[in-house]
Amino acid sequence: MATIEGFRIGNFKVLKDITLGRLWNYQQVEPLTPITAVIGKNGTGKSTLFDAFGFLSDCLKAGVEEACDARGRGGFGRIRSQGQTGPVEFEVYYREDVNSRPITYELSINSDRGGRPYVHKERLRQRRHGEETGRPFSFLILNEGKGVAWKGEKEGFRTDEGRDESKDIDELLDLLHKSGRESKETELVELEDKRRLGIATLGALKQHPRISAFRKFIEGWYLSYFTPDSARVLPLAGPQKHLSIHGDNLGNVVQFMERDHPSRFRSILDRIADKIPGLGKIDSVKTDDDRLLLRFQDKGFKDPFFIQQMSDGTLKAFAYLLLLEDPSPPPFLCIEEPENGLYHTLMDVLASEFREYTTRRGKKSQVFITTHQPYFVDALLPEEVWVLEKGKAGFSSIKRASDNEIVRNMVEQGLPLGGLWYSEYLDSR
Ligand SMILES: Nc1ncnc2c1ncn2[C@@H]1O[C@H](COP(=O)(O)OP(=O)(O)OP(=O)(O)O)[C@@H](O)[C@H]1O
Ligand SMILES: [Mg+2]
Repeated sequence: MATIEGFRIGNFKVLKDITLGRLWNYQQVEPLTPITAVIGKNGTGKSTLFDAFGFLSDCLKAGVEEACDARGRGGFGRIRSQGQTGPVEFEVYYREDVNSRPITYELSINSDRGGRPYVHKERLRQRRHGEETGRPFSFLILNEGKGVAWKGEKEGFRTDEGRDESKDIDELLDLLHKSGRESKETELVELEDKRRLGIATLGALKQHPRISAFRKFIEGWYLSYFTPDSARVLPLAGPQKHLSIHGDNLGNVVQFMERDHPSRFRSILDRIADKIPGLGKIDSVKTDDDRLLLRFQDKGFKDPFFIQQMSDGTLKAFAYLLLLEDPSPPPFLCIEEPENGLYHTLMDVLASEFREYTTRRGKKSQVFITTHQPYFVDALLPEEVWVLEKGKAGFSSIKRASDNEIVRNMVEQGLPLGGLWYSEYLDSR
């Protein structure tokens, strides 16, 4: 399964320039772990980081202009780091599977003269077989909607070290487009809509397998916007495999699990029933108008309760466990503050469920979370935890907890990481 080894964000709100994990030109650091947790004081950019993934995924689905306006983002002017004039930038360094060479995707979004956002540049690149260093070869280059894509697995283009890459690219594109020359290896690209990502268009074509794979990877990201209230709606009956991002098809997923995976479903119930006093059986019933109603049994009472009466925390814990039991799990799962509303004894359950999720059935899924909860962090390793801090200029920087030797040593000696955080060992001194 594809994994993100690292990423960089530039000019995205409070995150003016941050890098997590490994990039093609930043190889000396360890790649991201299957679980990544981000902590930090209020206003340091945890939600912003979560939203950076949401934004990228919205850009792919709906184009950059819609993405800037979606989910209350308020348009490009509010997204770009205040006081900056450069483009908003993302770089994702990812590997399709353990044996493949990493690919770098770069995207930059700027505003045009009318103030509307458009895709300024886009690029995909990959190193040649056996090459560990040096510039990777670009196999998709798009500048202002015009560019070139290398077909199939063709190597692509690169400039020698020391030369100005962007100048060479401009020259190459100019030459190719002026001559209109395509070759067996290359395809000239001119996008009709500069607000759509090139990977959205070209990733739909069979002749570009690497672009398609990357597009599919981003399409498969799951960003949880779960709220107990959206889970309380009564959906139309019909089993569904995957929990929706808001959780409004919880009943349908229960129906699916009851039918197709009864023993797994029972084990979910056992695991939360253990931690939530009184909770017994949970099942679904169909109403006369074909809607699904979740019903749960409290051990202290004769009659069952219905989903509207279920507590927020119970619903949330139940929904997360269902999500984590998805028979075909998403490769990348992002959850903001999963601990909200959950009692602290559920933290280690949640952490071990996340951990298990990342290795389930040999698939290597990734989990990205933000948290305020030391008990949750207790279950994590220093290389899994990243700390955001706001600097004097108003922008945030990020550090890996494992970069702090004292923290590393203390954890090796058996001290829990959340406790160290609580005692301010993770803060800059
Ligand atoms: N365009 C922008 N440029 C610079 N900073 C911005 C921009 N937009 C928002 N911010 C800053 O980002 C902060 C919000 O960050 P965010 O909501 O990600 O914090 P958080 O870590 O999730 O905090 P909390 O723990 O309270 O949820 C705001 O306080 C604001 O100062
Ligand atoms: Mg927040």
